[in-house]
Amino acid sequence: MNVMGECKMAEFEFGLPPESRMLSPDFTYGVATASFQIEGSTKADGRLQSIWDKFSATPGKVKNGDTGEPACDHYQRWQGDLDIVNNLKVDAYRFSIAWPRVMHEDGSTNQKGLDFYRKILDRLADNGIQPHVTLYHWDLPQYLEDRGGWLNRDIAFRFQDYADLVTRELGDQFHSCATINEPWCSAFLGYGYGVHAPGLNNIRFAKQAAHHLLLAHGLGMDVLRTNLPDVKSGIVLNMGPMTPKSERYDDFISAKIAEAGGNHWFIEPLIEGRYPHIVNRYEPDKTPLVLDGDMELISRPVDFIGINYYTRNISSYDQENFLKIHKNDTAEHTDIGWEIYPDGLRDLLVDLHRNYELPPLMVTENGAACADVLENDEVWDDQRCRYFDLHLNAVHQAIEQGVNITGYFAWSLLDNFEWAEGYEKRFGLVHVNYETQKRTLKESAKAFRRLMQTRKEQSEGSSFHATTNSQPLTSQQL
Ligand code: FCB
Repeated sequence: MNVMGECKMAEFEFGLPPESRMLSPDFTYGVATASFQIEGSTKADGRLQSIWDKFSATPGKVKNGDTGEPACDHYQRWQGDLDIVNNLKVDAYRFSIAWPRVMHEDGSTNQKGLDFYRKILDRLADNGIQPHVTLYHWDLPQYLEDRGGWLNRDIAFRFQDYADLVTRELGDQFHSCATINEPWCSAFLGYGYGVHAPGLNNIRFAKQAAHHLLLAHGLGMDVLRTNLPDVKSGIVLNMGPMTPKSERYDDFISAKIAEAGGNHWFIEPLIEGRYPHIVNRYEPDKTPLVLDGDMELISRPVDFIGINYYTRNISSYDQENFLKIHKNDTAEHTDIGWEIYPDGLRDLLVDLHRNYELPPLMVTENGAACADVLENDEVWDDQRCRYFDLHLNAVHQAIEQGVNITGYFAWSLLDNFEWAEGYEKRFGLVHVNYETQKRTLKESAKAFRRLMQTRKEQSEGSSFHATTNSQPLTSQQL
């Protein structure tokens, strides 16, 4: 009973079918974070200013004037946070390295910054947890933005230098390495719609930035192959379906063109070395400048593609703006206003599988921002538990339909700085009190731990059968 005299809800169990491949020990489960969202200590040990420091300090850009301080104070509290990861019994931890922490403006190494990540990698190794490292999760050094940021082609080569430095210095302990997280968000939210750093508003800029992000990925892959021949290397893309509001042909065609602009614009160059023709036909004036050889670099083979999925959009054709987005009034939405639509994850994965010759996929982010209530040291985050349950089952269904998916990472380990939404929107499996920095496991975190336990028992059970069955029976047993 809680103080209101109400009964607590029962423990939440994720209901994957017992025969699911996702219950086998070779399916990877992890939790994810990103440097700027959790670290804080933005001036410690010679860290340079990033575009998010400047953007969040600009009045009106981030809700409630929130900034990267204190975030989760993870720069100081990393040990306790990694103990939590260990306590969840997951296989893997996905995190990102802050470019402004590890490299000085002249390109030399900031040893103190590197030491921080080395300690994290050591601790993960001690605990047997796989490190899945992202090189760029949006915290670009501000001095590079001052030279044009992702609009300046030179930045792709600067990224290559940074990727070279990090992988030479730290890469011996990586399990996987993603060059870039969600180039769509960096390019379109940052340079096209002005809602993320650096806050520019021009779709042509967004497309040029996107091209340079993909180019940086390709150049990065070259150094990753040299420096990390044994590490799985790839990229992480955010995607979601655009559902036409009606079956009318103009709603359908406009939705598909928008989907091509958001999803295929990124995956087609990576896999097939070209931008979708249909998007270029529709907006020829916004096609980015592509130089000879760029597409060969961008389409270097990758070992995996990470897919981040949260929701879908519903749209109709609009004569003035081409597309109008609609809210689905009959569906449940999370606290950030995103529709809960697990079928979208299954359909997206199956659709990608049918369209492309893909490397293995990992779901590198999936999660929900909920209006959590901390009461008696507990958070009964029923909506988040249901969200995870539905989406885990959507991944299971995609696997059943033939998609090669090797892992699933929950976003996020901790409540954290949710970009333009500041600290108000909470995505964590673990609640963070930003005044005291106290961490409290939510019910969803415990449900993940139970899932890991179920999987372990199931695989121990099956290996027990395998060994007993493989032994010849003795006469006594007979
Ligand atoms: C993704 C970002 C991640 C987080 C989630 C909610 O787009 O990669 O950092 O903010 O959204």
